[in-house]
Amino acid sequence: MSYSIAIDGPAGAGKSTIAKRIAKQKGYIYVDTGAMYRAMALFLIRENITADESEKISAKCKEADISIEYRDGEQIVLLNGENVNGLIRTEEVGNMASASSVNGDVRKKLVELQQKLAATTDVVMDGRDIGTCVLPNADLKIYLTASSRVRAERRYKELIEKGMTAELDKIEQDIIERDYRDMNREISPLKQAEDAILVDSSDMTIEEVVSKIISLAS
Ligand code: DC
Repeated sequence: MSYSIAIDGPAGAGKSTIAKRIAKQKGYIYVDTGAMYRAMALFLIRENITADESEKISAKCKEADISIEYRDGEQIVLLNGENVNGLIRTEEVGNMASASSVNGDVRKKLVELQQKLAATTDVVMDGRDIGTCVLPNADLKIYLTASSRVRAERRYKELIEKGMTAELDKIEQDIIERDYRDMNREISPLKQAEDAILVDSSDMTIEEVVSKIISLAS
């Protein structure tokens, strides 16, 4: 039987950093489900579809073939055979991913792919609905969060380090809006699964969060 760790939580809580480290330490595969929604969003943007065109999204999403591969331990997202890792981390794609992920046809397609991956492999999977919907029988479920201010400060620091300009209040406002959308959508909203353990990383270092989760997994 394969072992699965589900990590859910809002944008910027540190899920991917934490999940990657846990996967490395445990020798599991890290599955970044947000990247799949982002690849789908990129596809829709390229098709000139806007977030409010739900019928077009339902019809067109069927033409997007999304798959993942691992190269040197890193997850590569392929959109119709093209490696799109370098194109999906923009705010535009993130906002479109948040908006288009409310669509039931988009979710159905990507959830199937995620379930297939976890069926045969030990995984650390992060997202919004992993513990509640994708892997309801996950061996360990974590709900990782942090205050919106702390999450905005982390994102601000990342952007400044990359030499970009940023405005902290605007970033926090975007985070609050994204949280609202992710938590209030009709299908699979972001919420803590009943059997998930809450970890608030606002005042914790990455190492502290990783060791807490590893200790829960063993
Ligand atoms: O984690 P992220 O920022 O890369 O995710 C981008 C968007 O994709 C997020 O706003 C909501 C959506 N998403 C989702 O609906 N379900 C998931 N399991 C993962 C992401």
